[in-house]
Amino acid sequence: RQKERETLVEAHGYATKLYHYVLRNTAAGKPAMDYLRSRGFSDKLIEEFGIGYAPSRWDTLTQALQRNGFELPEMERGGLLSRRQEGEGYVDRFRDRIMFPIHGGDGRVIAFAGRLMSAGQPKYLNSPETPLFAKSRTLYRLPEARGAIRKTRQVVLFEGYVDVIKAWSAGVTNGVATMGTALTAEHAALLRRFADEAILCYDGDDAGQAAAAKSLPLLENAGFRVRVGLLPPGMDPDEYIGAHGPESFLREVIEGAVSAVKFQLIYLRKSHILLEEDGKIRYLRDAVQLIARRDSPTEREMLLKELSLEFEVSLDTLKQEAADVRRREK
Ligand code: UTP
Ligand code: MN
Ligand code: MN
Ligand code: MN
Ligand code: MN
Repeated sequence: RQKERETLVEAHGYATKLYHYVLRNTAAGKPAMDYLRSRGFSDKLIEEFGIGYAPSRWDTLTQALQRNGFELPEMERGGLLSRRQEGEGYVDRFRDRIMFPIHGGDGRVIAFAGRLMSAGQPKYLNSPETPLFAKSRTLYRLPEARGAIRKTRQVVLFEGYVDVIKAWSAGVTNGVATMGTALTAEHAALLRRFADEAILCYDGDDAGQAAAAKSLPLLENAGFRVRVGLLPPGMDPDEYIGAHGPESFLREVIEGAVSAVKFQLIYLRKSHILLEEDGKIRYLRDAVQLIARRDSPTEREMLLKELSLEFEVSLDTLKQEAADVRRREK
């Protein structure tokens, strides 16, 4: 078992080099280089993140692994190859995709995410679960970002690989992302060893905001202080940096990240029709419930005051209601 893991790590290292070489030095890699350039990837980023290109032929990696003495069934178990649909034998799992290597705890490559350059499904193909790679325990860039996370005691969570990369080039060196899966309590506990504060910086669309709303309590339960970086509705961090530049991203989105409860109140607002009387009442009830769950009396009072001013309900009434919630939930 230990020996198989060692062999698989070697094979991943070999594949990383091959994909990177194809991207940088071959005619087959030219369209992939053009694609990366068009998305604002500098040579520096391509090198730092070890990005490559898996050519469209069926057996480039298969042949190369075989020539180097790797056993193909083992390579299939490692997620690098697939069984042929018809007939015997193996083919490359990743074809005609931009390749993002994913590093394990010790800094060696254990998996890949491969992106199509044109529309098609799936947009990202990730390595399957293998003896090396467990999605629930892996975060993209954690090994590389760990030092910065420890130093700042802060981690920034993104949805996408490209978001992590572009944020890094904007100066956010403590950014990580899940592997196309939802954040789990296991991820949160892992990160909590290095940081006290988590900033959620998910996409500005409904899916991203819903994912942030789900991740937030997981992180708070792990003991994090949580803030949320807000993006305009149609944008993800990569697109924001492209449109507004790195300084604006650092200042407005990261430094300007709002508190957990602020985000929850903004998110809650979207599901209530505040123009109608009973919509307003329901919103106030849900909002007071969120506020009542905060530990800090000062934070509770400040937020209730804001509600009281906006909805012209007396602060005393809101405080009474919050106290009721706290008693009930004790
Ligand atoms: P997005 O659809 O937001 O993609 O998915 P993206 O990160 O902005 O990628 P670009 O900018 O179009 O290249 C967010 C994340 O969800 C996972 C990936 O981790 C992706 O980065 N995902 C998405 C998959 O695993 N598979 C998919 O087919 C799509
Ligand atoms: Mn290189
Ligand atoms: Mn998205
Ligand atoms: Mn996105
Ligand atoms: Mn994107």
